[in-house]
Amino acid sequence: MSKQRTKRVIGNWKMHGRLAANVALLNEVVQGAGPVPAGTAIGVCVPFPYLAQVQQQLDGSRVAWGAQDVSAHEQGAYTGEVAAAMVAEFGARYAIVGHSERRAYHGERSEVVAQKALRALSAGLTPVVCVGETLDEREAGATERVVGAQLDAVLDAMTAEQVASIVVAYEPVWAIGTGKSATAGQAQQVHAFLRARLAAKGAPDVSLLYGGSVKPDNAVELFAQPDIDGGLIGGAALKAEDFLAICRAAN
Ligand code: PGA
Repeated sequence: MSKQRTKRVIGNWKMHGRLAANVALLNEVVQGAGPVPAGTAIGVCVPFPYLAQVQQQLDGSRVAWGAQDVSAHEQGAYTGEVAAAMVAEFGARYAIVGHSERRAYHGERSEVVAQKALRALSAGLTPVVCVGETLDEREAGATERVVGAQLDAVLDAMTAEQVASIVVAYEPVWAIGTGKSATAGQAQQVHAFLRARLAAKGAPDVSLLYGGSVKPDNAVELFAQPDIDGGLIGGAALKAEDFLAICRAAN
């Protein structure tokens, strides 16, 4: 199994932050990023209003930035929505799409997630497509069926070339924000399944991140798995020291 793929650690700030606090957090992350191996890509996905701030503060650093969602529409009468092209204007690299919190609280179906991923790509952003099963689904033995269907909706809407440009994050819903990470073995098993699905689509080297209660003390073991290329980090991304320790674990 090739471990030549780029390692990547992306922070998902969710609905956290304040202008002043962001300055301190971003400064610490940029200043502490030196010892992170050069081959590891680092990013932070922030609330929309902070895109200008992160652009100003991160421009020229090795830390990329992005949004946590984009509209499925290109532009128009969609009050409250934010277009991928708008996000791209702020120098963003990433757009998370299909996070389980959007699926659960905003009724986002996989077809909409696929549209969002396509919008992100056409705006020059890298979509970070999230998939993951609930605890009930896992206990019912439906993990592969659920994450397979979530991924297929996106793959079916794309060419192999487009798929090669996305990032996929496996985030078991029961592990998000709960302090209860999947074991490295559980995560690897699902990653291997997703990798096979991507390979069948002609894109075996897609960056596959694990997310869900990644902390400095479990990151090394998770990231050492053959099909885990890094992480999507929620809570621990709000503390520079923890986020940097996780970035250093992605060797
Ligand atoms: P967590 O969140 O690291 O706080 O579990 C991960 C995510 O939802 O992206």
